[in-house]
Amino acid sequence: MYVCLCVGATSQTVSDAVASGASTSKEVAAACGAGADCGRCRRTLRAIIASANQFEASASR
Ligand code: FES
Repeated sequence: MYVCLCVGATSQTVSDAVASGASTSKEVAAACGAGADCGRCRRTLRAIIASANQFEASASR
């Protein structure tokens, strides 16, 4: 699914960026470009970051 139409980034692209260490929408933008343009996708970026962090928290328990 496309998350960021400006750069054509998919949820997979964003998840990969989060998995390799991006923990804010700004860091995701730096890593893959998503959210760096119009910013409309930032809410979705944050949701992806939040769910990735949740997964990590439960995985390390
Ligand atoms: S949709 Fe992501 S920056 Fe515009």
